[in-house]
Amino acid sequence: MIKIIFKEHSGAVHEVTGTEGESLMDVAMNNMVPGIDGDCGGDCACGTCHVIVAADWANKLAQANGEEDALIGMTPDKQDGSRLACQVVLNGDLDGMEVTLPEFQM
Ligand code: FES
Repeated sequence: MIKIIFKEHSGAVHEVTGTEGESLMDVAMNNMVPGIDGDCGGDCACGTCHVIVAADWANKLAQANGEEDALIGMTPDKQDGSRLACQVVLNGDLDGMEVTLPEFQM
């Protein structure tokens, strides 16, 4: 199991687990972590699964593709470490990763 720590904008923390190959969005949804809308169901088409990955972990992720970059660019509260949770796929190197949820999804 791969541990992921989600931090809500309010400060609430959700420590949950997922499995290799699951997306970060699936892990959040499966564990009832609030704050990710996921309107397109994970097709990289809506941008409502925005999360901010802690700096220590962001460089362990595969590069965002052009579609993800374009959607993140439209996110009002884009920050360093911004990613779309549906495009981040879990692997063993991400065990313990910290992810912050924005105050709102677009
Ligand atoms: S769920 Fe729509 S872009 Fe991630």
